[in-house]
Amino acid sequence: MIPGLGADAGAEREARLLSRVMDTISAGLDLDRILQGVAALVTETTDTDVCFVHLLDDRARMLQLRGATPPFDTLVGSVELAVGEGVAGWVADHGEPYMIIDNKTADPRYRYIPALRGEDYTSMLSVPVVTPLGHLVGVLNVHTRERREFSQADVDLLRSVAGLVAGAIENARLHRRLADREEALERFAERTVEWQEQERRRLAHEIHDGISQRIVSLFFHLSAAADAIPADPAVAAEQVARAQELAAAALDEARSAIAGLRPPVLDDLGLAASLDSLAHSFPTLDVRVEAAELRMAEHAETAVYRTAQEALQNVAKHAGAQSVRLRLSRHRDRVVLEVADDGAGFDTAAPSVGSPGGPGPAGPTGFGLAGMRERAELLGGQLDLAAAPGRGTTVRLTIPFLPAAQSAG
Ligand SMILES: Nc1ncnc2c1ncn2[C@@H]1O[C@H](COP(=O)(O)OP(=O)(O)OP(=O)(O)O)[C@@H](O)[C@H]1O
Ligand SMILES: [Mg+2]
Repeated sequence: MIPGLGADAGAEREARLLSRVMDTISAGLDLDRILQGVAALVTETTDTDVCFVHLLDDRARMLQLRGATPPFDTLVGSVELAVGEGVAGWVADHGEPYMIIDNKTADPRYRYIPALRGEDYTSMLSVPVVTPLGHLVGVLNVHTRERREFSQADVDLLRSVAGLVAGAIENARLHRRLADREEALERFAERTVEWQEQERRRLAHEIHDGISQRIVSLFFHLSAAADAIPADPAVAAEQVARAQELAAAALDEARSAIAGLRPPVLDDLGLAASLDSLAHSFPTLDVRVEAAELRMAEHAETAVYRTAQEALQNVAKHAGAQSVRLRLSRHRDRVVLEVADDGAGFDTAAPSVGSPGGPGPAGPTGFGLAGMRERAELLGGQLDLAAAPGRGTTVRLTIPFLPAAQSAG
């Protein structure tokens, strides 16, 4: 309830606030504008002096200031708190409201952030922003210059506003994620056509320069052997032996061309065993494999396998590593593939490191880091790269766990 107002007037103002919050939320999907609008409405209607909206970055366990009333609106995007840090961090950690009536600095939960000018404000109330499904998405704070004893009604009102804001945040995030997926899909489709063309050129080369040349030589050696049989059986035998070697080499080349083409036998071996056999197919690498037995939708397994393959190829090509660790694990609804080497590492900020849509390098496989990232995004996941010159490289693919039964095809 608002101080100084009777119960009815208070209830009416509360209803008006909630309905204006709903209007602001439904006006559009630009989250930052919504949060600024909500912050302004909250201070106006709860008779407080400033309002801060912090959003939770779940992966980093950080709160980021995303909405604030003037003069703090200019700080939006530049103030961060770890979960557990400060009052907002405590509220995020515990999922329950917290208030300080006065003497903030004596409260162990309070943390002074110079830019937010805590010394100008006496009382504060902080509530978690929780979706109807109980998922924490942020924290909403109000502050007053004058000392104020917040009532239970104040807490309830702020929680109702927070509930509405939570829905808006979730919608905006879903919308953004959908748009990202759509973009990734477009890029992936474009790349796929490019890769196909490159792969065809590579194969044509391989067949032309390797297998075809050997068969031509094979033909000549066999002709020479045939000519030599009546007069000089020893020469004929030598030519036949040479022909046998060439046939064996042509066969090897054909096998390796096919191995590069054919999708791995994931169905026969399962993902874990396929990764194991993949790791052993790099004779120059010492790979330790820890792969959980998982069965996922076919396309998800293929994506994991191809990512591991490209990551190991990169280690073999670029890292000069002593040892490599390949790990596949499941964490609730996420699957994580990690390939970590202790090799040369590299500067991930260098312009040669491909990002989706960027001028990534296109080698003979045309897949590379940019391709791994696109595959990840396409599955609603992400690719993280941790590397520094001289300190090894870790590639981490995180995708949603898609059980085999849910596979569309
Ligand atoms: N494990 C690694 N260790 C050291 N450097 C790496 C590693 N992985 C990638 N890099 C660096 O990042 C660059 C980009 O890798 P990316 O896989 O995109 O391209 P590429 O391997 O050069 O070519 P392609 O994969 O298309 O054949 C590499 O050229 C290399 O410099
Ligand atoms: Mg590569």
